[in-house]
Amino acid sequence: MTIPLRLTLNGQPREIALDDPRVTLLDLLRERLGLTGAKKGCDRGQCGACTVLVDGRRINSCLTLAASLDGAEVLTIEGLAEGDRLHPVQAAFIAHDGFQCGFCTPGQIMSAVGLIREGHAGTDPERIREGMSGNLCRCGAYAGILEAVEDAAGQAEHREDAA
Ligand code: FES
Ligand code: FES
Repeated sequence: MTIPLRLTLNGQPREIALDDPRVTLLDLLRERLGLTGAKKGCDRGQCGACTVLVDGRRINSCLTLAASLDGAEVLTIEGLAEGDRLHPVQAAFIAHDGFQCGFCTPGQIMSAVGLIREGHAGTDPERIREGMSGNLCRCGAYAGILEAVEDAAGQAEHREDAA
């Protein structure tokens, strides 16, 4: 018996037959749908490497049952860029060297996109640090990550002012 699951995944409607009600969104993305950007760091909600957006909000995909997401909109790192044009947060991570090995980076970027959309942190470094505290970096690239998120948040504010 399979469970039907309808998702909008990176802007595309998808219909998936789940053969296991216990499969997590992370495993569905990585093992079944070939989207390996979200990483499995701890598989228990402690590192943030698996962060994706569901209906615009940041979640740990390792803790989320895929079967609970029928009708949801899921955005992963693979859906951020528009063709060759990087998302401003991706571009800011490159500009500020916000990574070393890159393992945590997709989660950091998705978390930053969610944080900026939430609009609570603005460009305040302390609030950005707090808002990004669920995303760990074993390489300790935190200084570059913070600069990148500050820069991207500033750009987003600027675009809103101009709108
Ligand atoms: S893999 Fe999900 S929080 Fe670590
Ligand atoms: S860049 Fe290596 S874990 Fe963050």
